[in-house]
Amino acid sequence: MSERLRLGVNIDHVATIRNARGGDHPDPARAAALAHKAGADGLTVHLREDRRHIRDGDLEAIRKASSLPINLEMAATDEMCAIATAFRPHAACIVPEKREERTTEGGLDVAGGHGHIAPIVGKLNAAGCRVSLFIEPDPVQIAVAEVIGAPVVELHTGRYAELWNAGGFEAARDELERLKLAAVEARKRGVEPHAGHGLTFENVKPVAAITEIAELNIGHFLIGEAIFIGLDASVKKMRALMDEARARSAA
Ligand code: PXP
Repeated sequence: MSERLRLGVNIDHVATIRNARGGDHPDPARAAALAHKAGADGLTVHLREDRRHIRDGDLEAIRKASSLPINLEMAATDEMCAIATAFRPHAACIVPEKREERTTEGGLDVAGGHGHIAPIVGKLNAAGCRVSLFIEPDPVQIAVAEVIGAPVVELHTGRYAELWNAGGFEAARDELERLKLAAVEARKRGVEPHAGHGLTFENVKPVAAITEIAELNIGHFLIGEAIFIGLDASVKKMRALMDEARARSAA
């Protein structure tokens, strides 16, 4: 399994900077068009309940600015479900926003008796959105994701990234193995594995080399790096690192 690894660029933090001053600058829709031109395969945005990143009106503006598929990250609430089923993004990724919705490490606790997630997955599926669940690389969470009808899981790489940042590859090796096993388990169950959170130029390659993973969603580092080298160069460099890692693991 070694199809081209897709890069979803998360442009939330362009909105975070805009919101620091109010007004319209910098415009996340402009970032969407630039990320598209630089080689992104998709755009990811998180409409949070508190609207600290993008705002409701950004959704249509982003869709107008780029024809790339939009992946809408959202909490499992009726309000967000209504917005998503009206907007109909290509994909909807359910993420935890409240402490009690998380597993100990931070992914969505699909297995923890949150009976409210399954009906929302059903409504999003019915609206034609490709639903993904942002979970820890844990086989139990993957099994429940399959049972409730999610075609995609996004594996939380936050713990891997923290370990890497603290000590490099050796420190992160066990967590990387957990990500690999989870990706294999997801494929075995017919669920498409994606991954993301905390990925950088330094730590992306070992994750990109996991051939079962179909897509990485990367935001904070890319937008931060864009301050120094520009968004075009930031996205292009990430794309190149991902392609190098994937080519090496296919060889
Ligand atoms: N994937 C999901 C589900 C997320 O919630 C986030 C953060 O918004 C990301 C990926 C991207 O993480 P980062 O901004 O650390 O690259």
